[in-house]
Amino acid sequence: MPTVYLETYGCQMNVADTEMVLGLLEQAGYARTSDPAVADVILINTCAVRERAVERVRGRASSLAQYKSGDRRVVLGITGCMAEHLRDKLHQEAPYVDLVVGPDSYRRLPEHIERARGGEVVQDTALDPHETYQGLDPSRSMTAGVIGHVAIQRGCDRFCAFCVVPFTRGRERETAPEEVVRQVRGLAEAGFREVQLVGQTVNSYRFQQAGREVGFAELLREVAAVDGIERIRFVSPYPLGFDAAAIAAMAELGKVCKHVHLPLQSASDEVLARMRRGYNFAEYRDLLMALREAMPEIAVTTDFLVGFCGETEADFEATSRAQAELRFDNAFMFAYSERRGTLAARKLPDDVPPEVKQRRLAQVIEQQRKITAEIYTAQVGRRERVLCESLSRRSASELLGRTDAFRPVILAAEGAGVGDLVDVVIHRTGPGTLYGRLAGKEHAQP
Ligand code: F3S
Repeated sequence: MPTVYLETYGCQMNVADTEMVLGLLEQAGYARTSDPAVADVILINTCAVRERAVERVRGRASSLAQYKSGDRRVVLGITGCMAEHLRDKLHQEAPYVDLVVGPDSYRRLPEHIERARGGEVVQDTALDPHETYQGLDPSRSMTAGVIGHVAIQRGCDRFCAFCVVPFTRGRERETAPEEVVRQVRGLAEAGFREVQLVGQTVNSYRFQQAGREVGFAELLREVAAVDGIERIRFVSPYPLGFDAAAIAAMAELGKVCKHVHLPLQSASDEVLARMRRGYNFAEYRDLLMALREAMPEIAVTTDFLVGFCGETEADFEATSRAQAELRFDNAFMFAYSERRGTLAARKLPDDVPPEVKQRRLAQVIEQQRKITAEIYTAQVGRRERVLCESLSRRSASELLGRTDAFRPVILAAEGAGVGDLVDVVIHRTGPGTLYGRLAGKEHAQP
């Protein structure tokens, strides 16, 4: 049986895609291996959102190309957003790459791999505005059988000035609600405890067909009605289109985790307008307050993008003040880098000097570190329900789990196992991590 080795970079959509691609390849007769040295096919599922992510994959691909030098014919393929973004440039800069396959062409991957194994160089980067991969079952062998991903939406219609995603993933389209529920049932039957609903602007989910319309709130209710799934998360919402019905569904449904990742990017209205985000800071803050009012325990995380075109010191100070005021649980923080093909790359000068970008980035990182530490310290002494996701990276005698609010918790593995939903008491904190002691096993996996 031929073997396939996969590596995934980027967002949860790519994680969901890798699970789906592996399911497709398993059906086509491939077995997964975690050792690239023995693989017949090596696939790197990539991200193009920042130049640094692309550079990392370039380095990784050239290092994995060493496995092509033996007697066996080994196929090396790049899939995902970087494949879509660079297309034939990838073959030119890395002639050892046999396959370049974009996010809408995965159904044809088995046949493309066969052609590449026969010696052809294959590129398929056609975008398909209708592809939702309906009917394909993701592999269940990717994760420890605890968290499964279901892509409820693909593509993006927002066209933020800095973002490459609408170009790498095409226009927004929704997975039919019946298909979402079918996949969630499959996860429940396979023993998964948590489902993550994935989409580029996931809260804008609106499935319309033959006069019927199902919105995000209704979909959440349908997924929550599936027996066996204990937790539901969704990534990543957009600050627009988060309606009252969705907030009410989140608040009412016990299975829906009280955590939301809501990318702010900047708190300067001028910068937000140049970014084409479609909201101003006051609107963002109103939404955050509505979420916190409906769910006082909710944890909110965010993204900050500093050093965007034309960002002045006053713009940046507005972001820094907002960060202090809104007290996010945590944040992904980046300095702007230009992406080919985007509106910003075509029309706006990348005029904030690199050292200024780095200083601003260091400042938001430091401020966030302090805020996160304060929020986490306030958790000490609390009893929390934790889903044990895996063994901790540090030690096989410890488990890594997450609270409902997505805070990571380390606890001793004695008395609990991966997949258990347990009660713990938080007894101390470390940087970005909580440490807990088992307080009850009544929620262990049956
Ligand atoms: Fe990256 Fe593509 Fe996701 S650019 S962030 S992998 S949609």
